[in-house]
Amino acid sequence: MPPTTTAAQSLWLAAMPSRTYPPPAQERTFDVLVLGGGISGLTTALLLKRRGARVAVVEAGRVGAGVSGNNTAKVTALQSTMLSSIAAVRGSAVADEYAARSLAAVDQVAALALELGIDCDMQRRDACTVAVQDLDLSGIEREFEAARHAGLPVEMTASADLPYPVAGAVRLADQVEFHPVKYVAGLAAAVDGDGCHVFEDTRALGVTDSSPVLVETTHGPLHGERVVVATHYPVWDRGLYFARMEAGRSYCVAGKVRGAPARAMSITTGDATWSYRSAGDLQIVLGQGHATGARGVDGSRYAAVERHLREHWDVEQVTHRWSAQDPMPYDHTPLIGTYLPGSSRMYVATGFAKWGLSGATMAASILSEQLAGGPGSDTFSPHRLSPRGLPQLARMNAKVGVDLVGDRLLPGQISSAAELAPGSAGVVRSGTERTGVYRDEDGALHAVSMRCTHLGCLVRFNAAETSWDCPCHGSRFDVDGAVLEGPAVHPLPAREPPST
Ligand SMILES: Cc1cc2nc3c(=O)[nH]c(=O)nc-3n(C[C@H](O)[C@H](O)[C@H](O)COP(=O)(O)OP(=O)(O)OC[C@H]3O[C@@H](n4cnc5c(N)ncnc54)[C@H](O)[C@@H]3O)c2cc1C
Ligand code: FES
Repeated sequence: MPPTTTAAQSLWLAAMPSRTYPPPAQERTFDVLVLGGGISGLTTALLLKRRGARVAVVEAGRVGAGVSGNNTAKVTALQSTMLSSIAAVRGSAVADEYAARSLAAVDQVAALALELGIDCDMQRRDACTVAVQDLDLSGIEREFEAARHAGLPVEMTASADLPYPVAGAVRLADQVEFHPVKYVAGLAAAVDGDGCHVFEDTRALGVTDSSPVLVETTHGPLHGERVVVATHYPVWDRGLYFARMEAGRSYCVAGKVRGAPARAMSITTGDATWSYRSAGDLQIVLGQGHATGARGVDGSRYAAVERHLREHWDVEQVTHRWSAQDPMPYDHTPLIGTYLPGSSRMYVATGFAKWGLSGATMAASILSEQLAGGPGSDTFSPHRLSPRGLPQLARMNAKVGVDLVGDRLLPGQISSAAELAPGSAGVVRSGTERTGVYRDEDGALHAVSMRCTHLGCLVRFNAAETSWDCPCHGSRFDVDGAVLEGPAVHPLPAREPPST
């Protein structure tokens, strides 16, 4: 069954805030430039402003329209099996610090919303990590132990707030759900003013690590004593961030249901991950995760999530669907700190592994403290090496090696554009050159080079989102080659469409 919603748009982005922010004009020198206007950049900017810094946020598009506006909007310190995974790879002291900082971040989000008067539909809710089958119970027991070791007031329960039987669950009460776009818009409004600025529609194109740091943008140069790179995926290759994380996508569907939706924020463990929360009379379900750029991605992912929703709830109407990706670090913990070892002018926050609403808030606290000369935390230093994570690091980079040289025999090869039906894509090969061709619903052809402008892997067509996605480090491009997501910063070159 194909998905019944046609418009792919996040529930949260359906009504973008009306307030917009102009690109930079006369003022071009600041204490700190924060690149990226998602929850990470804006929380960092706000905390720095509160410490007296003159800050400018540089956002390529609209604030909150990145992955911060495309998620399931749960702010919780219980994050699936994150704590036991961190404990296994980095030890229990790191898991304890991550848990404590995550819990503090949940409270900080609630406190900021209250202090700033941000009307963002915030509610306190239980968060649950659920074992659907008996064989998944040992995993949630490990999570329970790791959470308890970290001091989180968790409990084991036999049931979860779900309309189907489960084997058991770990529950943490008093976590937060909110409307992330309204929240981020509220942060932006609090940052802008009193000598601080938010600049929208302004893409950072390059950084020179001079004193002050020079950031070239689509609206001319900006200068900052310090720069924080909060562009979701760090857009400069110095630091080799792309080699330590892989991008993972997931699919969300929201539907109006008859009867009560699930009020708790739950996530299942085991073979299939399903994540749930409600928003009014809408039930949201997330699932079908895969590495970005996987082969054969099409609308069946959305259809499977919708099927799951309909199987368990009485759905009156499916209203929204959206998908997004987040960088997943090889050792489960975010990368927060100086951009390069020893650097004192450039900082970064990334790798939130689909838990960045608390993770980015935690990063903002650490970075604002570090930039003010405080200790911050070395635990999340981007320059760490986690020996027990090395097999995963090796696996990730071996996959990239295969993807770099692979796809010699690309599926979907066509010899003429006449073979393409509206809404489909194919590959034309000429010598070593590969051209990706897409025919839109009106019959027009869009042709681009398939060499990813990051490091040269071949992109693959994503029929679920009508984009060209790179399997190596997750860059995504639209059918005319424009960058949708980094680490790539340059578009795919346009090609002459083959004859029809
Ligand atoms: C499907 C899915 C569900 C999720 N659900 C949850 C959840 O329930 N709870 C949770 O805690 N986390 C969740 N997450 C993770 C969370 O949404 C992210 O970790 C978090 O929003 C990341 O915030 P950010 O500010 O780093 O990124 P973004 O919000 O993407 O912000 C980065 C910004 O940088 C801008 N930018 C990029 N390049 C440039 C440039 N060169 N110059 C200027 N600006 C630039 C972008 O336009 C963007 O606005 C989920 C993630 C996914 C994928
Ligand atoms: S994202 Fe790195 S090669 Fe494409």
